[in-house]
Amino acid sequence: MSVTAIVGAQWGDEGKGKFVDILAADADLVVRYNGGNNAGHTIVNEYGTFKLHLVPSGIFHQQAVCIIGPGVVIDLPGLVEELREFEAHGINFKGRLFISPRCHLILPYHRALDRLYEEAKGRLSTGTTGRGIGPAYADKAGYNGIRLSDLARRSLFLEKLGLQVSIKNRLSVALGGETMSADKIASDYLDYYNYIQPFVRETFGLVQDAIQGGKRVLLEGAQAALLDPDWGGYPFVTASTTLVSAATAGAGVPGRAIERIIGVAKAYTTRVGNGPFPTELTGADGEHIRKNGQEYGTTTGRPRRCGWFDTEVVRFAAGLNGFTELALTKLDVFDDFETIQLATGYEWGGKPAHYYDGDAIFLEECQPTYESWPGWQQSINAAQTFEELPENARKYLQRLEAVTGLPASFIGVGPRREETIIR
Ligand code: GDP
Ligand code: IMO
Ligand code: MG
Repeated sequence: MSVTAIVGAQWGDEGKGKFVDILAADADLVVRYNGGNNAGHTIVNEYGTFKLHLVPSGIFHQQAVCIIGPGVVIDLPGLVEELREFEAHGINFKGRLFISPRCHLILPYHRALDRLYEEAKGRLSTGTTGRGIGPAYADKAGYNGIRLSDLARRSLFLEKLGLQVSIKNRLSVALGGETMSADKIASDYLDYYNYIQPFVRETFGLVQDAIQGGKRVLLEGAQAALLDPDWGGYPFVTASTTLVSAATAGAGVPGRAIERIIGVAKAYTTRVGNGPFPTELTGADGEHIRKNGQEYGTTTGRPRRCGWFDTEVVRFAAGLNGFTELALTKLDVFDDFETIQLATGYEWGGKPAHYYDGDAIFLEECQPTYESWPGWQQSINAAQTFEELPENARKYLQRLEAVTGLPASFIGVGPRREETIIR
């Protein structure tokens, strides 16, 4: 078993970081392949609680080489802050963290434009994390990006940056924003680069050698299938591809090398930002899930929207990604629920409908069809095997497996590494 991918099966924040941390105990290489610091991957282990935005969640395991692949957009001050936090906790990453020089940079004007576009769009806004993700990937696609490798060539970097700042300043003024100084950005970013320069190296050989040598490789996805720009409810999506296929370009891994594709899903559903959410609960049950599950954004602290498990969404994600199994997280959040609803499908205009039948506006009009399942009304945090779960929890899980058509190989019963049932 060599190459395993960990992919979000809903709208993000499913617990991908926790599972990468668990599986990385037996990995030689961990590669993050998409997104930027819009991601927030929480890990609770013997070192404490960490919220990783760019560094692969395998970093806590000393045998694991960690790579930030070329598909990732990098916020340099954010990355430096993350690395300094590891230093403060005595977590050694030197000599085993590598960053692709192909990574594009998120620059201060990307963050400013992200905010200005959102403000200008008003009720049509996406509800982004404000990290400059869309504008940074837009520059990458439009041949206006600046990459880490550019920082190694000082005069070329200054030339590219000067040109981009002059363009972005004009855009910013048109949108009612401020102008920026290229000199200030240049001096800050050259300083950040000094700090991370020892970790920047071409990663192609590392990844290829690992695959050809039969090493254990973990691919860490950010965001999730329903935020994919092609398959999510555009424009309420993120800018980079979120499917497992993103790992081919974003990590430099041939598609046929990926053997195991683990879809991570919560036992319910959450979403941050705007856009359709058919099983959303706006009343007491939603508040109950938010309170038990501590559903506040890892990156922005925004309250997450909460709802019942949506089989239609997870089946769709499974079809797009080819999940071999599920890692189902946060089952413990239902510990004190009397009844749990499970959405098994959608109806539109009184007829069966699918997620993929229409656009974001169509999805707003879809009605989920629900089944009711009795809760178990006891704590399951200590369960280490499927058999140790209460009967009603087993029944809910078995039904969830049947309707999604996927086995749940991992079941999360608490945030900590060891609060996990491995089947
Ligand atoms: P990611 O972006 O997919 O890595 O997920 P986040 O870290 O944004 O959000 C998942 C949250 O759920 C984090 O606070 C985790 O510590 C927490 N978590 C993960 N698995 C479980 C679980 O099985 N039970 C509980 N109660 N919390 C969990
Ligand atoms: P992880 O990896 C949840 C959402 C934002 C917004 C939309 C676009 O932690 O699961 P962006 O800043 O990317 O332009 O915002 O995407 N979003 C996420 N939601 N988890 C994430 O990452 C997300 N990354 C982006 O809330 O709706
Ligand atoms: Mg997250």
